[in-house]
Amino acid sequence: MSKSTNIVWHDSAVTKEQRQEQKKHKSAVLWFTGLSGSGKSSVSVELEKRLYDLGVHSYRLDGDNVRHGLNNNLGFSQEDRTENIRRIGEVSKLMIDAGIVTLSAFISPYREDRDKVREILDADEFIEVYVKCSLEACEERDPKGLYKKARAGEIKGFTGIDDPYEEPVNPEVIVKTDKQTLEESVQVIIDYLYEKGYLS
Ligand code: PPS
Repeated sequence: MSKSTNIVWHDSAVTKEQRQEQKKHKSAVLWFTGLSGSGKSSVSVELEKRLYDLGVHSYRLDGDNVRHGLNNNLGFSQEDRTENIRRIGEVSKLMIDAGIVTLSAFISPYREDRDKVREILDADEFIEVYVKCSLEACEERDPKGLYKKARAGEIKGFTGIDDPYEEPVNPEVIVKTDKQTLEESVQVIIDYLYEKGYLS
């Protein structure tokens, strides 16, 4: 793929700050990271409902869904996972600019890839949410039967089995889905958003 040349950035006549003012809340990305089956989708789906009911303009980007469209040319090699996260980071940035509270739920196993997304955003726009759940519990849940296939050698390079997952070092929020109920996990995030002034 060749790089774009001769391109010029055009500023919008409406700023991010104006959009946020109109919506009466800040925009940021809640970046859910965790093992397959840890509960990223469940927590983000439930949170999106709560935010909607609170009148917050939010939108959820999810690994499985995005890989059906925008990223349907990417697999699960390290290189492809890095490109997957890079693109989602850029999409999240656009959504934040549009004034939207964005919920991005991807395994995003590499710390460096997540940190790169943080770097392209303003300081308070990246909220890393570590969806913490033991591998044993994820494997026990195995909602899509993928761990079973990975153990049987039918899927190669499966996160947590024969592919790495690098835990966040200093995430803004941790939810422990093998110890908390879904409602409790969602509440932890809602509380964080109010406490830090994203919502008021
Ligand atoms: S990544 O690592 O962030 O690029 O992955 P992501 O885009 O979130 O996609 C994860 C979902 O893809 C399915 N799947 C796999 N996961 C991990 N490793 C391998 N090899 C793999 N192959 C397919 C799986 O359903 C993941 O969904 P979740 O919701 O995380 O269980």
